[in-house]
Amino acid sequence: MENLHFKILVLAISHFLLISTSYSQPNLNNLFQCLYNDSSLSSSNVVYVPLNSNSSYSSLLESTIRNNRFLTSATPKPVAIVKPSNYNQIQATVKCCKIHGVQIRIRSGGHDYEGLSYTTRLAPFVVIDLQSLNSVNVSLEDNSAWVQSGATLGEVYYAITQKSANRAFSAGICNTVGVGGHLSGGGYGTISRKYGLSADNVVDAVVINADGQILDRKSMGEDLFWAIRGGGGSSFGIILSWKIKLSEVPSVVTVFRVARTLAQGGTDLVQKWQTIGKNFTKDLFMRLVIEVIAEGNSKTIRIKFETLYLGKIDQLLAILNTNFPELGLKREDCTETSWIKSILFFGNRNMDDFDQLKNRVPDARRFFKATSDYVKQPLSKSALEMLWKWCVEGQNPILIFEPYGGIMDEIPTGNLPFPYRKGTLYNIQYLIQWDNVSESDVHINWIRKLYGNMTPFVSKGPRGAYLNYRDLDFGVNKVSGGTPYSEAEQWGSKYFGANFRRLAMVKKKVDPQNFFRDEQSIPPF
Ligand SMILES: Cc1cc2nc3c(=O)[nH]c(=O)nc-3n(C[C@H](O)[C@H](O)[C@H](O)COP(=O)(O)OP(=O)(O)OC[C@H]3O[C@@H](n4cnc5c(N)ncnc54)[C@H](O)[C@@H]3O)c2cc1C
Ligand SMILES: *[C@@H]1O[C@H](CO)[C@@H](O)[C@H](O)[C@H]1NC(C)=O
Ligand SMILES: *[C@@H]1O[C@H](CO)[C@@H](O)[C@H](O)[C@H]1NC(C)=O
Ligand SMILES: *[C@@H]1O[C@H](CO)[C@@H](O)[C@H](O)[C@H]1NC(C)=O
Ligand SMILES: *[C@@H]1O[C@H](CO)[C@@H](O)[C@H](O)[C@H]1NC(C)=O
Ligand SMILES: *[C@@H]1O[C@H](CO)[C@@H](O)[C@H](O)[C@H]1NC(C)=O
Repeated sequence: MENLHFKILVLAISHFLLISTSYSQPNLNNLFQCLYNDSSLSSSNVVYVPLNSNSSYSSLLESTIRNNRFLTSATPKPVAIVKPSNYNQIQATVKCCKIHGVQIRIRSGGHDYEGLSYTTRLAPFVVIDLQSLNSVNVSLEDNSAWVQSGATLGEVYYAITQKSANRAFSAGICNTVGVGGHLSGGGYGTISRKYGLSADNVVDAVVINADGQILDRKSMGEDLFWAIRGGGGSSFGIILSWKIKLSEVPSVVTVFRVARTLAQGGTDLVQKWQTIGKNFTKDLFMRLVIEVIAEGNSKTIRIKFETLYLGKIDQLLAILNTNFPELGLKREDCTETSWIKSILFFGNRNMDDFDQLKNRVPDARRFFKATSDYVKQPLSKSALEMLWKWCVEGQNPILIFEPYGGIMDEIPTGNLPFPYRKGTLYNIQYLIQWDNVSESDVHINWIRKLYGNMTPFVSKGPRGAYLNYRDLDFGVNKVSGGTPYSEAEQWGSKYFGANFRRLAMVKKKVDPQNFFRDEQSIPPF
């Protein structure tokens, strides 16, 4: 029975592939025979193939696509999606793909800015979608948790809070972001000035390497363990789970969001924020969300000061009245709440609806393009004014400035692949979103131009960028593989600075055949 089912499936898939793809290289029949011959994969609801356009394959593929740019009919699609519920199924998939020369894309939360977890121009590929491997086991005794890569940040936060209101995890703001991509790319959020990146709080991990072996920290060794904490998982293996250290938070925290337009002195406030944002006590995180808004018949800039303080209103007011009186913060702007509710606050969600943390469905999907910079010298007032002008005249981006400093200044640059530590004032994210596919080129070209315009004002030699805000404009690997180190260094040094070389050396050691690769993976040194 099973065998007959399998034969029909192979026939159907071959037919589909004949009519829908132009790949010539690997023999996909052999791949499917290998996959279906494995007892762990032959059961239903593990391997999904594109038999027809409205099959569960499509809904699974689309389920966590966050960027509509990669949700078009022209987007290259996987020959199969494997949705494992145990580790044997992943090992079997790795083994079959390796034997038959088919690439793997690993997807946890699907939030990759360039869609690299579910599409590629490089080759026929299989997606391993980890969304069912999302357990979170919190141990208060050990002040840690084991979390699987397929969990979302919201699921992690929720599980921690179920155990204690005074424990937290240092990670990003959007609750649908996946653990797998986030932790392997760094992970920055509202308590990172006090506790560091998510990756700084990883104390163990379990990975599957290119030989299909399951390794923990001890058996993988410190080099690989170093690389997966910020070097990007997709170059090194499939990270199944992570042991994370929990952080302490008080029962009462304070949040506020106040907005100031240019007419309300916004430029001077930003100018001052640039130097004090990273100098505040580690308990205070104040980021800027900068937007273009209508003002009468014209447009202006509005700056939202979004803040979390790990303490009560009185202390917060005292700090800001001393260090940032120009902001004019009032008591009624502030709300005392819990750390978990502050996550919902930053996510612009109903602060009483905890269940949203477990909702894996992304917010309304749009087309977007983003990129990032690091700032080490404050922008002059005239530079800020130029930036506002480019935005107002242009395509209405959102700019997000996130302050560093605090413990980020204390962690040595080589501790992890992520290099933006001492001396970094803040990160800029430039983000542009739209809904009409025919506008894509206009918006993408515009943000590229903005990035060019910003060159004189931001970090140099190399100009830094944040891996988790991946941008393929920095360069991509060759279709045939075998991209020279010196070429890959052009984008690698933007994300990793001097740590890129060590990443390439680790890659050479753990995956010399470059099995795990994508458009911006690290080549073996
Ligand atoms: C709305 C939104 C908000 C965000 N907010 C923040 C924020 O506040 N702070 C911040 O630092 N970042 C933020 N990010 C960026 C986010 O951290 C990255 O996009 C992150 O890589 C997403 O992880 P993911 O698992 O959802 O993505 P995926 O698309 O699943 O994966 C991203 C990359 O990691 C690889 N990968 C995924 N899982 C694994 C695994 N288990 N093993 C090996 N490789 C793996 C993928 O192959 C891909 O290359 C945000 C992104 C979005 C879209
Ligand atoms: C299927 O598995 C059996 C037993 O493990 C093996 O002998 C056979 O060669 C496999 N066939 C294919 C096509 O991989
Ligand atoms: C798929 O499409 C067919 C024909 O349009 C339709 O009859 C069927 O209900 C659809 N199935 C699903 C699961 O949407
Ligand atoms: C969490 O505990 C469950 C039950 O013991 C176990 O099956 C699961 O693998 C654990 N998860 C992690 C990430 O260790
Ligand atoms: C920030 O702190 C540094 C180091 O303590 C100090 O040199 C600098 O003057 C401070 N800047 C501001 C604006 O307070
Ligand atoms: C999308 O943009 C095109 C070109 O600007 C325009 O012709 C079309 O009407 C737009 N579609 C929608 C739905 O707005």
